[in-house]
Amino acid sequence: MNQAPSNEVPLIELHEVSKEYRSEAFVVRALRGVDLRIERGDFVAMVGQSGSGKSTMMNIIGCLDRPTYGRYILDGIDVTTRSNDARAIVRNRLIGFIFQGFNLLPRTTALENVELPLVYRSVSGKERRERARAALESVGLGDRMHHTPNQLSGGQQQRVAIARALVTSPPLLLADEPTGNLDTRTSYEVLGLLQELNAQNITIVLVTHEHDIAACAKRVVSMRDGKVQSDTVSTERIIAREALAALPPLEDHA
Ligand SMILES: Nc1ncnc2c1ncn2[C@@H]1O[C@H](COP(=O)(O)OP(=O)(O)OP(=O)(O)O)[C@@H](O)[C@H]1O
Ligand SMILES: [Mg+2]
Repeated sequence: MNQAPSNEVPLIELHEVSKEYRSEAFVVRALRGVDLRIERGDFVAMVGQSGSGKSTMMNIIGCLDRPTYGRYILDGIDVTTRSNDARAIVRNRLIGFIFQGFNLLPRTTALENVELPLVYRSVSGKERRERARAALESVGLGDRMHHTPNQLSGGQQQRVAIARALVTSPPLLLADEPTGNLDTRTSYEVLGLLQELNAQNITIVLVTHEHDIAACAKRVVSMRDGKVQSDTVSTERIIAREALAALPPLEDHA
């Protein structure tokens, strides 16, 4: 096969991707001919009104759903027509997911939550623990490993979720409204972490409703009615750590 080595092809290529949800009662055209190319190392914020197709696009990029028409090429692999099993293999190798609601198991420690993706890959117990520990340390939670989610703040829970997404060392992180449940300060903390990961060459695609969060990305793709309305490079990029430092100090109630 005449395929270019994987570091020369874009990480993500959508060609004329459309998605229709059909039932007997309705047809919804959630995506209408989207062309999008994302290179390795990019940090893309996806914005747009409710219902504009952002989550639909993330589900397709994440190989959780398929386009109705068009092609999706991930890391040089045309995943459009692959079987569900083959797509699951590609997904597990390449993608970490972060969700708005954190999706952590309750009554389960941070360490165990982060180990979980490795359990599914049959990694030995010892290696699982080591890798989960390292991932938690990398998000600044080395001292919270044995806490359960209800013993952690919202920002800490989201950092556990990021550690869980990172523990398999995926080159691509997908985040659908990762700061949707967080206050401004905590949102900037999470974005600071994502910017650090991006500086280590992890590609990030993030959906957000908030302008200040989108401004932390390198590039902003705006969706409207299932199409890309605009696709711009952030000229006044916000550095989340600096924005955090500039916030007024927390009130001291002591
Ligand atoms: N499973 C489904 N069946 C039918 N229609 C769906 C389904 N999922 C999404 N839709 C429709 O597709 C369109 C796009 O939905 P999508 O979830 O991608 O929007 P979104 O941009 O993520 O919105 P939000 O900002 O509210 O999360 C909407 O009109 C929605 O009602
Ligand atoms: Mg959505």
